This record gives sequence, structure tokens and C-alpha cells, in this order.
Amino acid sequence: MPLVAGIDSSTQSCKVVIRDAETGKLVRQGRASHPDGTEVHPDAWWTALQQAIEEAGGLDDVAAASVAGQQHGMVVLDETGAVVRPALLWNDTRSAGAAADLIDDLGGGDVGRQAWVDAVGIVPVASFTLTKLRWLARTEPENAARVAAVCLPHDWLTWKLSGARGLDALRTDRSDASGTLYWSAATDQYRPDLLELGFGRRIVTPEVLGPTGIAGHLPNGAPLGPGAGDNAAAGLGAGAATGDVVVSIGTSGTVFVASDVAPNDPTGTVAGFADTTGRFLPIVVTLNAARVLDAASKLLGVDHDELSRLALSAPAGADGLVLIPYLEGERTPNRPNATGAVHGLTLRTSDPAHLARAAVEGMLCALADGLDALVQNGAAANRIVLVGGGARSEAVRRIAPALFGLPVLVPPPGEYVADGAARQAAWVAIGGDAPPAWSAEPPEVYEDTSVPLIRGQYAAARDAVIDRTDR
Ligand code: XUL
Repeated sequence: MPLVAGIDSSTQSCKVVIRDAETGKLVRQGRASHPDGTEVHPDAWWTALQQAIEEAGGLDDVAAASVAGQQHGMVVLDETGAVVRPALLWNDTRSAGAAADLIDDLGGGDVGRQAWVDAVGIVPVASFTLTKLRWLARTEPENAARVAAVCLPHDWLTWKLSGARGLDALRTDRSDASGTLYWSAATDQYRPDLLELGFGRRIVTPEVLGPTGIAGHLPNGAPLGPGAGDNAAAGLGAGAATGDVVVSIGTSGTVFVASDVAPNDPTGTVAGFADTTGRFLPIVVTLNAARVLDAASKLLGVDHDELSRLALSAPAGADGLVLIPYLEGERTPNRPNATGAVHGLTLRTSDPAHLARAAVEGMLCALADGLDALVQNGAAANRIVLVGGGARSEAVRRIAPALFGLPVLVPPPGEYVADGAARQAAWVAIGGDAPPAWSAEPPEVYEDTSVPLIRGQYAAARDAVIDRTDR
């Protein structure tokens, strides 16, 4: 019974699962928290990883391990391999101006956006790594001058686990490289010219491994797999089949599907990432997801179960009350300086149940907009596979089918990102053309699409929200 380890270093915490490589059976697990904030020193991730590994009973007996992690975070290293400054995370919007400038550099407006999509499959927004490098070069020139290499959270943790010290030992995988703006999933090539355009000079970038490439070894000699960005890993962990659109409601909200074709969306709504199997992962990402439910619970002074009960006690559409959930600005649509809004307050809608309903519907409508964009860009969508912390809300599960217009499958609660990393590690350990087929418990299925559609009232309110920079 060979064991494998899967690691998820996410925005809020680090999770480690140890599974049987052949059956996927969960054997042990551990977890530790990360600090809050959109800027975090990577040492905090390393400390949390050590704690989570210890809680999971160590890695001495595993035959392979893989690390998945939050995407895009800018980890900058000097020539000795020391971290130059805390990492700017995917949800740090300070580099929004740098993103706009990068579009201008390639012709501006629609021309610039199309040029970026043609080059690397994605249009610059503040989340992507190169915008953060540009922000660093401009805002902290002394730190920028010390930078010899850039990598991503999962690359750095894999490198640390391998005990390597040299920058030439840095490795990454296609899924995470595809969110940097200096690597193209369509050509499988770095674009050092674009890295230079953004940062002012060329620096070391990790070698990009294929689906079962070996990134290093653990102290016991077991191979480290290439790892993955968290969304691609969740797709592998949830066992999404053709036509399954995965919707993940975590700190970010993501809507994605595995595809043989690289998308080309110059609006930037659908990003052309890569998946973990050598294919593509068209994806739409929102900044506001599970924390919209946290904020609504806080506003109403109730816990999540009560928020769900309240939401289900109000009518579909909340009698016209609409909550636009841009609580941290938004990335899709690209409104980094927007704020949230509540439209349609009347005496009738001014109660906790209506507000709870509007919060759940607003968050789901933003994700349903993402599904529309995926379909417009050619994705086959037969079913939704709903994962992430937000899927634990009964109101979310019951309301989702009407807003997505598709059956919603909810697999049992689990650590799907860490599971995806574990499945990749099993693929590395066992070999073969495809990841091992692990049996899974059947999902719950929600199919009630009889509730009247309320997407129109959401769209009208959404389009009335202005970005503070537009004022
Ligand atoms: C993806 C993205 C987020 C983070 C969250 O583009 O920015 O989903 O990966 O961890």
C-alpha cells in the first residue's frame, strides 16, 4: 500500500492529506493556519507547512508528494535564494495601475488586450504575477535591484521541501506558470521579452515541468511532483469529467472546465490557464466568494447555518433586493476599486431574510456570469460540480441550480486541492498515461431549476455599480 502526500498551501491555511496511492483512501491529514492579509512572508507558509506535516504524521513513509497552492503570488529571491520581501498575493490589488500600463505597452485598449491574449492567453489584471513585478520595480527600486529570481508559492514550497538551495533547481508546472503573464500555455514557452517589459530586466524563472515531471526529492528519496495552481489541482481532486464545469467557492470564486482548446478571450473574462494533464483550463475568477457569506453573517449577527436558513425563508429574487458583492473591489469584471452595493431596499425588503437571500444570490450571480462567459468561449457545460467552503451552505446548494440553469453536483466536503495534489503524486509514483482512477463517494445532486430566474435584476444593478476611479 504505497502512500502519497498532497499539499494545499492556500490563502488562509495549509492542508496536508496522506492517501493510498492506488485506491485514494484517506489515511492521515493535518492543517495549520496562514496569517491574514494580501501580503505574506513565505516563511509563514513554510512554518504552517511544517505544522501541517507534523499533524499529518510526517512524510517519511510516502512514495511521492506534490504541492498545490494559491496562484500568482510574487515570491522574489535574491541570488543566494533568500526571500527579498513578503509576497504580494493574488488578491492584492495594488498593481492594478501596472496592469493597465502593461496593456498600454502592447498598443492599449482592445489592441493591447488582444496582443496579450495572443502572447500568453491572459489579459493583465492586478492578480497576475508580472503586474506585481512591475509594481515592485516602480515602487521599491532597492528591493527590485536585489531580485535574481521570481517564483510562485507552490514552486517555492516544493523547492524548500527538496532542500535545494540553487536558483537553478526551481521548478514549476504548466497550470501555475500560465497565470504569470510571461509563460504561454498555448506554446509551452516562456516569454522573457514580456518579463523584461514588465520588470525592466530578465531574471531566473523556474523550469516548467510536464504532468509527471520530477521537481526534486524529499529527504527519504521520494520524488516531488510538479505541483499545481490550486484551481487546476481542485479539478483533478474533484475528478471532473468532460462537460463538468467546476465552481469553487473559496476565498476566490472560480468557474472552470478542462478543455483541449486554448481560449482566446480579449475581454479578459476567460483566462487561458493550463490544467494538470497537459491540456487547458479556461477559467473565470472572482475576488468575492465565500467571504461574501462571512460578511453577510457578520452584518446580520448570525452564524452560517442561520444565514442559510434566513436566505431560504425569503422568496427567490428577494423581492427585488440585489446585493452586488464587490467587497474587495473585483477582478471579473475588472473593477479593482469598486465597492459592494445593495439595490432595491424597500420597507418590504428591509429584513434579515431578504438581505441573506440577496447575499447568496449576488455571490452566485457573479459566478453565473462567469459560466456564461465560459460557454460563450466554447466550453461544453452539462453539469456544475460545486466545491469549496461556500458549498457547505444549504442555501448556496439549493439556490445554485436556478441561477446556473444546470444540475449541481456537490461532492462530499473535502480538501479537493490537496486531494488533486495527492492524485498527481500518485500518478508520479505509479506512472501511466493518466492519473490513477480513485473511487469517490457519490455527490449530492440538486436539480430544482423551477425558481424564476433573477439574473436580469442582478445584471441591471451590477451595471449601475461604478468603480471609485470612474467618479
Ligand atoms: C486564480 C486566483 C485564485 C487563487 C486563489 O486565478 O487568483 O483562485 O488561486 O487561491
